[in-house]
Amino acid sequence: MADELPEPVAAARSMVDGAARVVVLTGAGISTDSGIPDFRGPNGVWTKNPAAEKAATLQHYLADAEVRRAAWQTRLTSPTWSAEPNAGHRAIVDLEQRGKLHALVTQNVDELHQKAGSSRGLVVEVHGTMRRYHCWGCGDEGPIALMIDRVRAGELDPRCTHCGGIIKSATVSFGQSLVPEVIDRAMRVAEEADLLVAIGTTLQVYPVANMVPRARAAGAAVIIVNAEPTKMDRHADVVLHGNASDLLPVMFGG
Ligand code: APR
Repeated sequence: MADELPEPVAAARSMVDGAARVVVLTGAGISTDSGIPDFRGPNGVWTKNPAAEKAATLQHYLADAEVRRAAWQTRLTSPTWSAEPNAGHRAIVDLEQRGKLHALVTQNVDELHQKAGSSRGLVVEVHGTMRRYHCWGCGDEGPIALMIDRVRAGELDPRCTHCGGIIKSATVSFGQSLVPEVIDRAMRVAEEADLLVAIGTTLQVYPVANMVPRARAAGAAVIIVNAEPTKMDRHADVVLHGNASDLLPVMFGG
């Protein structure tokens, strides 16, 4: 099997086979084959509507009811609700079952890794999750389905039933501070890895992108799997430009 593979893929597969503490870092590109668009790829959300990226800030959301109403309408029809994990997500579960996955850091908020069967204790969601809501006033949290039901029933900008505060998804928006303990864990596991594999991410959002040079500086090997060149390709031992759903089963499978 291995001798039929293109050389870089065979090299990546043998690096995985020889590793004991693999840290995987995923971005939106691992979920596109599940029907969820990415942000900066050729068909990305920001690529198609650059203004949307500017509007996706916490400040705009808190200050402008129109921005919130539009955000709730977008949440109502999100492809995430019907998305299923794909072969890329499942390949990471296989890697875990081989006892090789040290941690799975994801920038995604779709929880498809957990839905695929990745252990929740190994998943580090650095940008939160869109499947829960967060009250900006009192910190109340819960399943976002409860809020979506209220929007569907006509409350276009649902407020917190405890404090009347603004409700947003439990994701980390631009302008919102990241959770220090979560970022610290992401950087720590990067330094503990003997192999870091970055998948489906342009690696241009910080501080998470720093995981790549941090892992390398701590002695890890680095593999980047992405449909197009990334900002961090120069730090990688192997760069595979292709589809994650095709490449990961070959790289991670037993
Ligand atoms: N296989 C491999 N790569 C893919 C695939 C695929 N099937 N589909 C898309 N890609 C690549 C795209 O070409 C792109 O380079 O995945 C990359 C996704 O990059 P981004 O859209 O920038 O997503 P990401 O890196 O996760 O963004 C980081 O930015 O907007 C914020 O908070 C948001 O978490 C997000 C963060």
